Parts: sequence; C-alpha cells; structure tokens
Amino acid sequence: MGDLEFEILPAISTFFIALSAVLVAIGWKQILNKKREAHQKTMFWAAVTAIIFFIIYASRTIFVGNTTWGGPEGLKTFYLIFLFFHIVLATVAAVFGITTLTLGYRKKYDKHRKLGRVTAVIWFITAITGITVYVLLYLLYPGGHTQPFIDALFRQ
Ligand code: HEM
Repeated sequence: MGDLEFEILPAISTFFIALSAVLVAIGWKQILNKKREAHQKTMFWAAVTAIIFFIIYASRTIFVGNTTWGGPEGLKTFYLIFLFFHIVLATVAAVFGITTLTLGYRKKYDKHRKLGRVTAVIWFITAITGITVYVLLYLLYPGGHTQPFIDALFRQ
C-alpha cells in the first residue's frame, strides 16, 4: 500500500465524525423548537454518518494499518492516554447512540430525552477529541505506519 491511503482515509473519516456531530447539534436544536419530524430525519443522518466513519476507520485498520506517534517522546504518554480516552468515549457513544435511536423509534420519549442529552454531549466530546487526535497525528507530528491488521493475521 502507498502513502495515499494513510493521508486520505483519516481525513475522510475525521470529516464524517465532524459532520455527524454537527448533525446531532442541528437535530437537538430542532427538537428544542418542537420540530419532531425534522429531528428524527437529522438524527437518522447523524447515525448514518457515524456508521460511515466507523466503516472507513475499521477497514483502514484492517487493510491499510494505523499510524504511530511521530511527535516528541515526552508527549507520547499524554497522547496515548488521550487516544485511549477518545476510543472509550467513541465506544460508549456508539452503545448510547443505538439505545437512544431505539428509544426514539419505540416512542419512549421520556427515557429517550434523558439519554439523548447524554448521548449528544458524549458524541460532541468524541468528535472534538477525534479531531484533536487527527491534528496531532497527521498535521502536527506525522508518524510512521503499522502493519495492516490483515497482514499481521495472514501474511506473517
Ligand atoms: C442518536 C440519535 C438521536 C439523538 C442523539 C437524539 C437526541 C435527543 C435529545 C437530546 C432530545 C431532548 C431535547 C431536549 O429536551 O433537550 C430528544 C428528544 C426527542 N427525540 Fe431524539 N434523538 C435521536 C433520535 C431520535 C429518533 C430516531 C426519534 C424518532 C423516531 C427521536 C424523537 C424524539 C422526540 C419525539 C423527542 C422529544 C421528546 C419529548 O418531547 O419529550 N429522536 N432527542
């Protein structure tokens, strides 16, 4: 694999996290204005863009490989803790997002409203930390590449 996928795929997947967070913000504003139909549609697209992000991210890890830290050694531990925090948040956001959507479609609006607020805030923090990881890894301190997961498994 060349270097192109290393630069383009992360940019595209980061774009989709950002887009998804913007859609969640718009959807929240719509429901505060009592626009239920618009809220439902916007949140549906927020979920679709989040899934597109995940598909790009997962296929990159499997077929292309990840990027290692290329910045100062002194910042490495900080970066790894930050990355871990981001991954945990993204996982929690996915589980909460699926639950929030299900509660919405089942018209359990009371629970949906309470969980929806938490889901939205977690998703905002996930997007912000995700964009920060992108900036650190690809713009400030371009790093090295790891082996694609699929090679590590089958081509040793
Ligand atoms: C992951 C996707 C979703 C998120 C993050 C989300 C988020 C939210 C939030 C934060 C609120 C509360 C607004 C507030 O009072 O501050 C809310 C309310 C609401 N949501 Fe969603 N929502 C999602 C998907 C859906 C879907 C798919 C539907 C419908 C099928 C839906 C229907 C509603 C309705 C009807 C309310 C108003 C509840 C009420 O008036 O008590 N939402 N949502």
